[in-house]
Amino acid sequence: MGSSEERIVAVIMVGGPTKGTRFRPLSLNTPKPLIPLAGMPMVHHPLSACRSIPNLAQIYLIGFYEDREFAMYVSSISHELRVPVRYLKEEKPHGSAGGLYSFRDYIMEDNPSHIFLLNCDVCCSFPLPEMLEAHKTYGGMGTMLVIKVSAELASQFGELVADPVTKELLHYTEKPETFVSDLINCGVYIFTPDIFTAIQDAFIQRKDRANLRRMTSFEALQSATKALPADYVRLDQDILSPLAGKKELYTYETRDFWEQIKTPGMSLKCSELYLSQYRHTSPHLLARSNGTKGATIIGDVYIHPSAKVHPSAKIGPNVSISANARIGAGVRLISCIILDDVEIKENAEVIHSIVGWKSSIGKWSRVQGEGDYNAKLGITILGEAVGVEDEVVVINSIVLPNKTLNVSVQEEIIL
Ligand code: GDD
Repeated sequence: MGSSEERIVAVIMVGGPTKGTRFRPLSLNTPKPLIPLAGMPMVHHPLSACRSIPNLAQIYLIGFYEDREFAMYVSSISHELRVPVRYLKEEKPHGSAGGLYSFRDYIMEDNPSHIFLLNCDVCCSFPLPEMLEAHKTYGGMGTMLVIKVSAELASQFGELVADPVTKELLHYTEKPETFVSDLINCGVYIFTPDIFTAIQDAFIQRKDRANLRRMTSFEALQSATKALPADYVRLDQDILSPLAGKKELYTYETRDFWEQIKTPGMSLKCSELYLSQYRHTSPHLLARSNGTKGATIIGDVYIHPSAKVHPSAKIGPNVSISANARIGAGVRLISCIILDDVEIKENAEVIHSIVGWKSSIGKWSRVQGEGDYNAKLGITILGEAVGVEDEVVVINSIVLPNKTLNVSVQEEIIL
């Protein structure tokens, strides 16, 4: 555990509306970090993991969404965690490291000894106290969480080589075209405040390079300025790659679960992982067959206290039902996320699907996906306020907000 004088600050990078486009149609109405997984907004999972950090002074969310989109959530979560949580809005995207740097004065207000930096769109057990301890023994500027994945998947992430004994980061390449390593960057870091000097150096180097090009070639200048603005710094390419092998950065390997949440399909998978984690961390959040709702519950299921579920419904595994949803008699739900104010009428079935806010599914209807979380149409997604009329079957389809379906569809995107 940390000494009583040290103070730690956590920062969660939430991106903005131009990111998270693969999350459409759900992200059309709600910022991706606020879309529920296992009944809680995506960002809630890293946020609540921060509770385990000793001497935590503040949590900042940094993004380029409008302040009002986060205001309500931030004030309620601050209260719940009993740690000040604040949303800081970038006027424009500065990149994952540039965003952090642009708020260095706020972050340093508490004079922290360490800064945790977490990507919002990863799903894992966030072993933060363990990372802090490991980081202190390594003694470098930063430690990153890493995991082994299959060689086929590795190229979607930052691939790295670490010293097997000292755990020093020796080599780092972001999403390489040719295979480097099956050890990848999980997007969870701890740094000393020296990270700000490293980011500042990266800014200076970028400006110097641009100046050099200006003197030598007008064409090169054009491509350099077109590529990235001078105040845009990426943590991976601009900081981790050049600092590898300089005894500044170290790795902490997790053997627990880890996934990246870039698509709605992956949010169903991650909902399942978080629901199963609740068994150990928050068993009170899991529904039970003999609970007050009376319905038959199979496996891990979350039901918001305000949702109304008919006692003859059969629910699970991997189902989360958000506030004010109404689940009728004889309804069967398997592997799905049912968002706020949804109504599912008698004897309807929902399988491998996400049902958007205020949608309504008619009697004897079936909304289903085949359950391939990585395929574009591997699950069915109904956007906000979609109506599926009685006895209609919707399979492997994406339906945009405010549509009403009165005929059955399969493998379709309904615009
Ligand atoms: N505030 C802010 N401003 N946030 C940003 C910005 C920005 O300009 N750019 C990205 N982010 C946030 C995203 O919302 C996300 O949470 C995180 O920073 C990283 O996003 P990207 O830079 O788009 O990278 P990525 O998600 O494709 O890959 C990164 O994370 C992987 C782990 O999930 C890389 O670091 C990979 O190496 C890593 O494996």
